[in-house]
Amino acid sequence: MPACSPTPRANRPDQPARPESVTVPSTPASDPRPRVVVGVGGGIAAYKVGGLVRAFTESGATVTVVPTAAALNFVGAATWEALSGQPVAADVFTDIPQVKHVLTGQRADLVVIAPATADLLARAATGQADDLLTSTLLVTRAPVLMAPAMHTEMWSHPATVANVGTLRSRGVTVLDPAVGRLTGADTGPGRLPEVDHIHSLGSLLLCDPGAIPHDLAGRRVVISAGGTREPLDPVRFLGNRSSGRQGYALALVAAARGAQVTLVSANVALEPPPGVTVVEVGDARELESAMTTHAAGADVVVMAAAVADFRPVRAGETKIKKRAGQGPPAVELVENPDILAGLSRPSPDRARVVVGFAAETGDGDGTPLDYGRDKLARKGCDLLVVNRVDEGRAFEVADNAGVILAADGSPPVEVPFGPKTVLAAAVCAVVARRLAGAAPGREPPK
Ligand code: CTP
Repeated sequence: MPACSPTPRANRPDQPARPESVTVPSTPASDPRPRVVVGVGGGIAAYKVGGLVRAFTESGATVTVVPTAAALNFVGAATWEALSGQPVAADVFTDIPQVKHVLTGQRADLVVIAPATADLLARAATGQADDLLTSTLLVTRAPVLMAPAMHTEMWSHPATVANVGTLRSRGVTVLDPAVGRLTGADTGPGRLPEVDHIHSLGSLLLCDPGAIPHDLAGRRVVISAGGTREPLDPVRFLGNRSSGRQGYALALVAAARGAQVTLVSANVALEPPPGVTVVEVGDARELESAMTTHAAGADVVVMAAAVADFRPVRAGETKIKKRAGQGPPAVELVENPDILAGLSRPSPDRARVVVGFAAETGDGDGTPLDYGRDKLARKGCDLLVVNRVDEGRAFEVADNAGVILAADGSPPVEVPFGPKTVLAAAVCAVVARRLAGAAPGREPPK
């Protein structure tokens, strides 16, 4: 599991509390592993869910798979038992003395439904309890994460839209499906979100059951991620070590919290999070142009990309050659625009909340936080997330720590070392508090 300690079976504020009279039989105290229920709906995407079960078991969870009867037509119980190492039951009439239809939900720290079919969303939204999985959903007070997969027409049908709205209003995290090739020859929204994304959000909910409220619904959020590459010649560039993971984690969490997210992505080899619009860029000037266009009138802008401060004055049209006796060529550099400072300047188009990131090291003259405070003032943004990058932290790794500094003097928010989604959720929470009550931003540019 992630470095943060999972909070077992917390009652979520937006879900009914467990009645005082119910005693939950617990697994032995010697088993501290978080308990994840993976509910599998009857859709072709069920075959991908084996990877999700694996991901949770490998990260240290005990996984109970609860397939619907229809799901067993796609993947059999033997596969689920082998992958989870736990017995599998789909109906309420096996192991009756164990009262599975109650115990499975009571014992869960997290319930993940994948694929959440249109039928399963409908049954969950109307509170049906006609099989083990829907009974579990009614009983559990753990966070519930649903990853839909169905045809585009089913996803966009008013009945499904209403069911998703109902579930979200009850505190269930219903992801948007990914966009791409569907079962037939057609393409559109309806693919199961990537298993890695479902696993990351599930792990986040195990760390903090309240980490994904739907508090950015209706907000337009523009995030930059990755690292710019400044061309030197047709095959070489000046680049940096940013993998884009922090920016992608922000996009994943912001979208799961309901935001309409545009991700301006510079040279990142990661799958786009579900429901997020990706705009690919290469160098700093392309990044500036895309950010300026998309950030106009947005609610939130986050500059998580590592932007090269300098670029070669000239990018050669032909490859730079070694020439005998001439030594290495001199590379003349020119300064790139400061994109964050530009987006932070007061203007009618300025986003309501502008967030920067700063990877800092300390030295004899100051701590990383001292340098962060200077940078916050210099850039003119509202919030600055300071990461320490000494001791190999932050770049090309899955975990991060940070301190969120605010220009208006609000107390800093410290986020301990943990998954990048945890830092992303902390940033989203600070941003959502600032936006509360404010009118929504303008529509995105066409
Ligand atoms: N940034 C930017 N445009 C640049 C350089 C940086 O928008 N040309 C943004 C980054 O996306 C980040 C923030 O500014 O959100 C801080 O980046 P950093 O590289 O730490 O700042 P610099 O201004 O380059 O300062 P330093 O001299 O410390 O490198």
